[in-house]
Amino acid sequence: MNVHIVLAHPSPTSLCASLCDEAVAFLTANGHEVTVSDLYAMKWKAVADYDDLGSHTDGTYIDASGEAYRDGGLSEDIRTEQARIEAADAVVLLFPLWWFSMPAIMKGWVDRVLVNGLGYGTTRGWKRYGDGAYAGKRGMVITAAGGSETVLSERGVSGSITDILWPINHGILYYTGMDVLEPHVVTSAVTVDSDRYQNLVAELRERLEGLETDEPIAYRSQAGGDYDERRRLKPGRERPGTSGFDLHIA
Ligand SMILES: Cc1cc2nc3c(=O)[nH]c(=O)nc-3n(C[C@H](O)[C@H](O)[C@H](O)COP(=O)(O)O)c2cc1C
Repeated sequence: MNVHIVLAHPSPTSLCASLCDEAVAFLTANGHEVTVSDLYAMKWKAVADYDDLGSHTDGTYIDASGEAYRDGGLSEDIRTEQARIEAADAVVLLFPLWWFSMPAIMKGWVDRVLVNGLGYGTTRGWKRYGDGAYAGKRGMVITAAGGSETVLSERGVSGSITDILWPINHGILYYTGMDVLEPHVVTSAVTVDSDRYQNLVAELRERLEGLETDEPIAYRSQAGGDYDERRRLKPGRERPGTSGFDLHIA
């Protein structure tokens, strides 16, 4: 497989950066091609501005061949990232959980790279939620969080990590069409001694082994018949006892 890892951590000696190195080494040793976008090292421009988005809120136009383009063209850094995703069979977002989300530099990568008409399409045909341009690719979050497993559980004070990661898993990866794997979450990530680190590496490798084969989360596709014409889940489609985000898992 071709795997593209997007890493957002300012420190090359952080847990996240170390796990990224471990992932590259493991995947490469297992015959995969790996590319890494180390956003801080690349000094990635994090803010999507007028130059990126142009005068249209949609940002991008679609030409007759279905290609996405903008007046003046997309900048080189954006096109390089798009090409890396295009070439990838799996895209991994690797980041520390900051304020219940990804670091701003990675959000800026999402804002600037996954442009309308490419990552998704609202201009023609509403290609999104399972039907985006990246259908057939796999997507996975690997994140480290300071909170413990109990703190990040449903009754824990931070709430469930599944809910916290919903905007990324469902709103970004699935929106653009990817098959989204269960996230790999390292909890209590501020206290990691060398014994625990070895365990974390073993757990990471186990997850990476399943990158090609693990069953993705069964999100409901927007065009799959579960939603009505106003894109609400049809009555009776929910699994018994489910509510909230869970409604959108078949
Ligand atoms: C700006 C900032 C915000 C953070 N927000 C959260 C948070 O919302 N939830 C949480 O569990 N931990 C939070 N943390 C703790 C980080 O997740 C933790 O320090 C990190 O995962 C450790 O891994 P690292 O060594 O790769 O940075 C935050 C840390 C920082 C610096």
